[in-house]
Amino acid sequence: MAAPGHLAACELQELRTADVPAAAGQCRELFVDATWNAAAVGRMLGGPGCFALLARAAGQGAGLVLARVAADECEILWLAVVPTRRRNGIGRALLRAALRRAAGLGARTAYLEAAAANRAAIALYGGEGFQRCGRRVAYYQGARDGAPGDALVYKRALEPGEEGPPQSSESRRTNGQTKIS
Ligand SMILES: CC(C)(COP(=O)(O)OP(=O)(O)OC[C@H]1O[C@@H](n2cnc3c(N)ncnc32)[C@H](O)[C@@H]1OP(=O)(O)O)[C@@H](O)C(=O)NCCC(=O)NCCS
Repeated sequence: MAAPGHLAACELQELRTADVPAAAGQCRELFVDATWNAAAVGRMLGGPGCFALLARAAGQGAGLVLARVAADECEILWLAVVPTRRRNGIGRALLRAALRRAAGLGARTAYLEAAAANRAAIALYGGEGFQRCGRRVAYYQGARDGAPGDALVYKRALEPGEEGPPQSSESRRTNGQTKIS
């Protein structure tokens, strides 16, 4: 496990619809869900306000985030890290980059949701300043024990200062790829 607050050394690449099949090939473990498969993600990316970032670590697909901006609101639709790459700061790096991107597109509030039983996501979102603003009862039909699981809804204000590409003292940006050290 990485040190608390750690941001992974990973490259972030903005995905276009045409990139999705290759990304799905690199992150096979993630694109297996009935909701989040390559066809569905490709379709969503073709819609207004949607964007996706793919994280690569050591040259391999490691995770991705899919988000949608509408007017001054952003919704993080999907955030997932390849199981063998978890707890290295990649989820945090993807979330922060998506929020910066959304702020740059004019969003001033971000929303996301997580299953009430998803301790990893809830800890990540709480640590990144999200506050709970709702609960959707029996929202997830495929909960592990067979009973529908509740979803918790979170929100966070986005600062105009979050605008622009991901930055750190050692970051660089070339051809749509950003390396965060
Ligand atoms: C949630 C998820 C995206 C986190 O990605 P990650 O790269 O492992 O997360 P990070 O390493 O960036 O961790 C950031 C913070 O999240 C929290 N966290 C992450 N995994 C955790 C776990 N297993 N248990 C408790 N806290 C956890 C911690 O607060 C961590 O900060 P710290 O390392 O400074 O303690 C990942 O677990 C995942 O892909 N899960 C399956 C898909 C999913 O649930 N997506 C989100 C809900 S839709």
